[in-house]
Amino acid sequence: MKGIFPIEKLERIQTPFYYYDSEVLRTTLSAINSEIQKHEGFVVHYAIKANANPGVLRLIREAGLGADCVSGGEIEAALKAGFASNKIVYAGVGKSDWEINLGLDNDIFSFNVESIPELEVINQLARLKGKVAKVAFRINPNVGAHTHANITTGLAENKFGIAMQDMETVIERATQMENVKFVGLHFHIGSQILDMGDFEALCNRINDLQTQLENHHIRVGNINVGGGLGIDYQHPNRVPVPDFKAYFDTYAKKLKLRPGQTLHFELGRAVVAQCGSLIARTLYIKEGTHKKFCIIDAGMTDLIRPALYQAYHKIENIGSEEPLEAYDVVGPICESSDVFAKQIDLNRAHRGDLIAIRSAGAYGEIMASQYNCRKLPQGYMSDEI
Ligand code: LLP
Repeated sequence: MKGIFPIEKLERIQTPFYYYDSEVLRTTLSAINSEIQKHEGFVVHYAIKANANPGVLRLIREAGLGADCVSGGEIEAALKAGFASNKIVYAGVGKSDWEINLGLDNDIFSFNVESIPELEVINQLARLKGKVAKVAFRINPNVGAHTHANITTGLAENKFGIAMQDMETVIERATQMENVKFVGLHFHIGSQILDMGDFEALCNRINDLQTQLENHHIRVGNINVGGGLGIDYQHPNRVPVPDFKAYFDTYAKKLKLRPGQTLHFELGRAVVAQCGSLIARTLYIKEGTHKKFCIIDAGMTDLIRPALYQAYHKIENIGSEEPLEAYDVVGPICESSDVFAKQIDLNRAHRGDLIAIRSAGAYGEIMASQYNCRKLPQGYMSDEI
């Protein structure tokens, strides 16, 4: 089963480029909204790091989601796309002064703070502006996730967050400061997580931590559990919308929210991955000694996930209906890791055929580089071409 693409329109655009199916994105966003409506106090912030294409951001903002940012540039992108500043959360282990000042100037919902030195700098910068910064502490819950090692973040050995045993000290330190206000706890255990048991483990850990804090009469305003819900890279056509019901129900059942607490999510991949495809053109079919190479005009500079994480993306020859043949699909970059897939079946390919690399809406366009002096790929929304 292949995806449905407006081939004549795509033929007119310079390849390689990202194509975003607005309908898939809208359906995904409605699925999120209809699930969170069932649970009081659930708030979703879209993790801008997954894709900051203005067209994509517009649809997400229109659906009412908040924004999760990890840099000043992302805060700027969120504001430019019209996200309300009081729905912006800002995380990151290394926030520069200008970035903190940008957050302060815009009175963002919260700074997710990852260390005491950072807390002190935020307090100082807020004092200079006569403001009080709302801070949440990112706690490293030491919960593993069954995903790729490069994208697990919640283990004690990772650089992220404040160790659990330091949590109370940090909160007490914050309550002594005049220009910060402690508003919540933040967690994130990793990305592309499909096993709900991992999120359940996080809930159990948070329940324990909340009890521990209550024993010390510390009240937490809100809980932010980060993102991480995975998508089905194997079946983008059959499963275009992730299982948001299972995801939100897990939190609703397992996390013991206290009265008045809000629960925040920072979903990136699950929101945008399936709506995006990288569209490339076949340049050459090369007969190797043992196999055939389909050489396309997109490379690891346009989509780095296969080279960086050995990630699987379904590939379709959308320009041919001829019988299937096995190919290695490779790009033009001078690196041997510039390979999208090995020995996969494609409809027989010819020079000029359009190739779609699927499920590329998350961490695709945004991670593109100009290595080899290549041009950055452009992104197009289906309803704007
Ligand atoms: N919140 C925090 C604190 C994060 O670090 C991340 C992702 C998210 C939310 C969003 O996670 P998501 O819902 O998208 O899983 N480039 C990699 C993924 C890196 C994820 C980094 N953090 C990839 O292409 O797989």
